Amino acid sequence: MLYLLRKMIRRLPGVVIKQVPLPTPEVVIGFGEREQAAALCKKHGFQRVLLVTDRTIFSLGYQEKIVAALQEQGISWTVFSEIDSEPNLAIIDHGREALSGCNGDVILALGGGAVLDSCKMIAAGGRLQKQSSNDLLQKFLLVKHKTIPIIAIPTTAGTGAEITVAAVVTNRKGKKEPTVVVGLDVRAVILDSELTVNAPMKITCACGIDALSHGLEGAAADVRVAEEDRQKSMECVRLVLENLPILIREPSNLIARQAMSFAANYGGNAINKQLAGYVHAFAHSIGAKYHIPHGEAIALALLPVMRFQKNRCLGKLAELSRYCGLADESESDASACDKLLDALQELIELCGFDFQKGLIQKQDYASLARAICWDSINYSPPIVLRDRDIYKLLDEMNEL
Ligand SMILES: [Fe+2]
Repeated sequence: MLYLLRKMIRRLPGVVIKQVPLPTPEVVIGFGEREQAAALCKKHGFQRVLLVTDRTIFSLGYQEKIVAALQEQGISWTVFSEIDSEPNLAIIDHGREALSGCNGDVILALGGGAVLDSCKMIAAGGRLQKQSSNDLLQKFLLVKHKTIPIIAIPTTAGTGAEITVAAVVTNRKGKKEPTVVVGLDVRAVILDSELTVNAPMKITCACGIDALSHGLEGAAADVRVAEEDRQKSMECVRLVLENLPILIREPSNLIARQAMSFAANYGGNAINKQLAGYVHAFAHSIGAKYHIPHGEAIALALLPVMRFQKNRCLGKLAELSRYCGLADESESDASACDKLLDALQELIELCGFDFQKGLIQKQDYASLARAICWDSINYSPPIVLRDRDIYKLLDEMNEL
């Protein structure tokens, strides 16, 4: 029943997402460039900054350069650094209190996906003051006159959350649910490679594979987009295939770090325009069940899912393979696609994820299949999976 419904509405999410206005931020790039946040505030006439970050980033002092630059520009600032987990209602409540306490007219969001997503909800709550934080958790949250502006400074190269319009928040029932913020105002994004250069290799790899999956699922999705967006999705994959191996050998390579930040940003564009797909549906469900970080769960799901659906998006994957320089025009689509899948396998092996054989319990298959099927309703993937397909793929993931 769910399969038939899913099949009927497969293309719908790709149509709906086109109705959501997307932020078009100015992008600033470079090592140590986060201090440009002050000049950007000045340029836009912002006078009272709420700088939001997490406890770890705060303890590392990454905010200090920004604070010094704000001080120099005579802009008042308040720091909210209480974030120590994925976004939840308590974090959003406290963030909203901090925003109204300083009467902030801009939010500087300095952190990874958790901080960036928290800021989207805090910025929306700044406009929708009569609504409780729980009320803000809707499938689509309409903020008529746009949210409080955000200047986003990602500290990881993975989620692309600096530009994605959805925020994932744990609700009262302890379930993570996405809210698409309609009217999200991301005024600027600063991609500062200094922030990612000291990330542990495990994080670099997990974030990199996550970014790659956004470009890859975007490229394979059954959603029509402008040529520029198609190119960005393919460029996301190319940049990760080229630069993540460099970083594994040479973690301080700043050119590769910067390229990975670009890849993540292009991956965020892919999510906004083409949505994700079954790799994410599997990763969300398996990750939640067995407490596996998102990027690692993506690495587990990526190859089995892409191999299973490849014949339904062969032309797109072959084009991607050629774009990445893995195949030439004379090769058949099937051969080009296989070369792409081989390159993905090689990269995932190089990352050295420690997948636990037999991790996914047989008794969990039915509930996982249900969760995967429901999650897939958020996307327009090239294929709709039946339960038996999902079981087969879970078997394969158990053997990796
Ligand atoms: Fe992801």
